[in-house]
Formats: sequence, structure tokens, C-alpha cells
Amino acid sequence: MMAKARILSGMRPTGKLHIGHLVGALDNWKVLQKDYDCFYMVADWHALMSEYEDASNLRAYGEEMVVDWIACGIDPERSTLFVQSEVKEHAELNIVFSNLISLARLERCPTYKEQLKEMKGRDLTTFGFLGYPVLQAADILLYKGNLVPVGTDQLPHIEITREIARKFNGMYGEVFPEPEGKLTETSRLLGTDGRKMSKSYDNTVNLSDDPETIKRRIMSAFTDPQRKRRDDPGRPEICNMHAYYEAFAPDRTETVAEECRTAGRGCTDCKAELAERLAELLAPIREKREEIIASGAVKNILEAGREKAASVAADTLGEVMKAVGLR
Ligand code: TRP
Ligand code: SF4
Repeated sequence: MMAKARILSGMRPTGKLHIGHLVGALDNWKVLQKDYDCFYMVADWHALMSEYEDASNLRAYGEEMVVDWIACGIDPERSTLFVQSEVKEHAELNIVFSNLISLARLERCPTYKEQLKEMKGRDLTTFGFLGYPVLQAADILLYKGNLVPVGTDQLPHIEITREIARKFNGMYGEVFPEPEGKLTETSRLLGTDGRKMSKSYDNTVNLSDDPETIKRRIMSAFTDPQRKRRDDPGRPEICNMHAYYEAFAPDRTETVAEECRTAGRGCTDCKAELAERLAELLAPIREKREEIIASGAVKNILEAGREKAASVAADTLGEVMKAVGLR
């Protein structure tokens, strides 16, 4: 039997996971477990690059995030779940790779420019933050990842990873595959206020929210801004709540769209129904979360994951040191 292709992906532990993570990443991660050898990583070194002034929450956020992953169907028996900073080879490979890319190339990376603008109140003009994609390349290539499930915003980092792999292989000999990004098919879900969904905008529905919180968050969400009165017809194609129906209650999207266009349903009722459906959908995840927390299993899961990841990482780094000539 051929070995399964390897998948590596990661998330930064910067707070509670929300429904955007569910449709944007976790549903995809879950499906991929069937056909691939999956490594899913808590990217705490990456989180540190923006949260370095106060990193005291990162450990707890990381563990909570893994609880969410498992509650959403990521199976620790099948996939390797681990914390980046517990496998020191990430940092070592980062040093080797940092010689294989120019400052100018990193400065041109669109995510770098965007984040500098977006993340206000933090000084990101650091050596570390400029090198963010280099560490990401080390994450992926340390496991010789073939596929990397990511959102479109991360594609520039996959491109840099491929460039580094090529450069390394050309200079020192063939060690790495050239990984490919695997895009999530669903389009990105916006926040309840129509902006990018993000905890810093307080416009999320979190996976851990109870039904009342879900209701409160959905009932205050933006809809079609041109629909001022109940008997104005609405435009489901531009209404963000209709996109939520598509993601979480696909069986209702057509009816909702039709009734919206003919003013057969008002936004209040429309959102109340949506909030109920979301609550139903999230209830089992919330239950599973509580179970996992009560079982205290996460520490052991992460320890087993660390062992497995570290063994692959040590092998690759051994090859790298030899190829470079340091061993
Ligand atoms: N940069 C990714 C993000 O912010 C997180 C990440 C770190 C990652 N290392 C990775 C994703 C390796 C895929 C592969 O979403
Ligand atoms: Fe959006 Fe529903 Fe209101 Fe139509 S009825 S504008 S789909 S919230």
C-alpha cells in the first residue's frame, strides 16, 4: 500500500474559535483525516509574533482550541495534534531557511503589508514578524507536508514555502516536496456586522456560545441595509444572514430567499429562525466540549502528539543537517 500523503496545517491560539473557523477550516480538516496522514498544530510561536507583549494566555488558548478541534470532529486517534513550541526543530529549521530568502521578498509578501495595517496597537515592525512565512515554511516542510489546507489569505505563504523548498533542494540536494495549498471550498463567512469575522471586532458567534448568546448575536446582526420597513422587499444575495443560511441551514436557503424577495418574511423572524438552527447545530459541539474538558484528556493527547511530531521532525532535521554539511 502506498503511504498516505501528508497534511500539515495550523492555527494560532489567539482566542475562542468561532463559526468562521468551522466552515473555513475545521469541516475541511475533518474530512481530510480519512484520506491523509494529518498533522494539526497549535501555532503558538506564530501567535507570539503578534502577542509577544503579553503571551500569558497562549498556553490556555492553545489547549482550549484543541478542545474545540476535537469537539468539531478532529480525531486525535487518527490525526496528530501538537503544539509547535514543544517541537524545537521548528525553530532550528527556521534558522536554516532564513538564509534562503531575501528581505525584499519578505517585504513584498502581501500578508505582511496587510497585517501591519490591520493589527493596530502592536508594533509589528520586527525581525520576527517579517519572518512569519519562513517559520510557516519550516512548519510545513519539517513534516514534508504535501498538502496544506488553508484559506486564500494564506496562499502567499504557501508560495514562499515552495520557493524555499526549491531553493533548498537546488542548493543542498533533494530533501523536500513542494507542497500545495488546498483551498477550502466554502467562501469566507463574514462577521455579524458585515466586516471580516474576527474576535477583535466582536462580531463572531463562538463555538462555545450558549443558545441565548447565539440569539443575541444573531438578532443584532446587519441585514440588507436597504430594507428599512417590514414590507420592503429584501435582497438575500447581498444579505450576510442569507450567507449564514447557506452555510448552516442549506435546506432553507431557497425558501428564505424567496420569502425575503417578496417581503413574505421579516428580518426579525428570519434571524430568529437562523439563531435557532445555529443553536441546534452547535449544541452537540458544546456538549462534546464539556465532556472533553471534564475528562482532562487534552494534556495527554498533546503529549502523544508531541512525541509523534517530534520523531518525524528529528528525522527531517537530521537529513537537513547532513545535506547542509553541518553533520
Ligand atoms: N499562518 C497560519 C494562519 O494564520 C497559521 C499557521 C502557522 C499555519 N503555521 C502553519 C497554517 C502551517 C498552515 C501551515 O492561519
Ligand atoms: Fe436577510 Fe433574512 Fe432579512 Fe432577507 S429576511 S434581508 S435574508 S435577514
